[in-house]
Amino acid sequence: MLKTKNYFNDLDLTKQANSMTTVDEYSSQPTLKSAKMVRQTLPIPEILSPTSQMDHKTHYHITAQDGLTEYFPGIKSSSKGYNGDLLGPVMRLRKGNDITITTENQLKEQTTYHWHGLMLPASADGGPMRIVEPGDQTDIHFKVKNEASTCWYHPHTYQISPRQVYQGMAGLIYIEDENSDRLEENLPHEHGIDDLPLIVQDRYFTEEGIVDYDQVSSIDGTRGDHLLLNGALMTKFDTNQRFLRLRILNASNRTNFKFELSNQNQFFQIASDGGFLNYPLGMTTLILGAAERAEIIIDLKQSSEDTLYLMVNDFKALEINKTEALVENADFSYMISLREDLLNIIYPEEVKDLPFHHVIFQGTDERVAVNGRKYKWGRIDESYQKDQYYVWRILNQKDDLENMPHPFHVHDTQFRILARSGKLPYKNEMGYKDTLLVNPGEFVDILVKFPDTGIFMHHCHNLEHQEHGMMTHFEVKNKDI
Ligand code: C2O
Ligand code: CU
Ligand code: CU
Repeated sequence: MLKTKNYFNDLDLTKQANSMTTVDEYSSQPTLKSAKMVRQTLPIPEILSPTSQMDHKTHYHITAQDGLTEYFPGIKSSSKGYNGDLLGPVMRLRKGNDITITTENQLKEQTTYHWHGLMLPASADGGPMRIVEPGDQTDIHFKVKNEASTCWYHPHTYQISPRQVYQGMAGLIYIEDENSDRLEENLPHEHGIDDLPLIVQDRYFTEEGIVDYDQVSSIDGTRGDHLLLNGALMTKFDTNQRFLRLRILNASNRTNFKFELSNQNQFFQIASDGGFLNYPLGMTTLILGAAERAEIIIDLKQSSEDTLYLMVNDFKALEINKTEALVENADFSYMISLREDLLNIIYPEEVKDLPFHHVIFQGTDERVAVNGRKYKWGRIDESYQKDQYYVWRILNQKDDLENMPHPFHVHDTQFRILARSGKLPYKNEMGYKDTLLVNPGEFVDILVKFPDTGIFMHHCHNLEHQEHGMMTHFEVKNKDI
């Protein structure tokens, strides 16, 4: 299965890949219940306090629980969350620290606790085989190896994770390190003031105004015609801060989101899934597939209007109101370059001789498969060595019946994208990534390395595809064993 080939043979790295892709539209049709709603202040998930903290050892307690959520005033919808009714608190972790998390399950069904984007031992990874039964709790342990970044957690429960996530199970993880310390002066960093978490999801509501996954689920990924930001419909944010930092997570089951400002001004992407880019990248459109993250900075001084909208798939998702004279809350224009090695992506000679592996995503609906096989609980299809570089080629195979983009994700790594269909990746993909969108017919080459041993997985992060077979277990072993 693994072979080496001259990696450079079929590439033309003088060109950059065209940007993408298909997105869904959010109508503001008067028929939608939310159209008449008064905008509410964007809810901000709180930072989870440790249950104990000693030296570099931190202990957290996370409880999955059933809840009730009023998406529409006065109408209670059943929901699920962590330490609350919907979504979960932000876990702020420090690189190098030893973390223990007590994962408690107060649901009436099984769940698992997966830390998306984190490099940690298989025993803590929370894949489908790490079930916590209803009423039980389990402690997991790991040392934080990731660098400063925005990651997230969600269930990975065999066959039911799409419903659990749709019902509200997702939360953010912030990682801090010496780089983020160094950038404190340059970047907005006051949680809920100028550093805002933004969990973006789409949901259908029933006539009664509740979320009912079983009524609306789709085997090709469950979507919605209403947008939720941090679990709320129709949101606004009033501020007097000049720079806003948004830590955006696409926590939808399948939907690609396109982000723009209503005045078409530039904003700046400063981080991708796995950490900071080299420098703020000016852009007017950002697209995130399911499970991808980006941190962006909006400079409110650039706009003359008092009200600005963050547009998500052409819908006025977040209303941003400038309240008074703007406070210069960061020295953003002087943000220093962090790591010359990233955006000036280089193709080390060694890449050409590395073991090469194909991941071929095939089909849609019931027919989804990876490399001709459907996922089977506990079956291990691939084996890799710890700390060894590999080149993986992720291919979205053209299909006669239906084609759709697939968000590819792999556990226990932050990879680098080498090329998209033989061309340079998009500029905002040149940092560390753990999830990427592969368009129909496209192949994306990544440089991947696993720092832990045990059983992990790679899969399509369209959650219904994942649970219907577009997922593979692999094992990482110590060298020469
Ligand atoms: Cu977001 Cu396999 O996970
Ligand atoms: Cu993951
Ligand atoms: Cu898929």
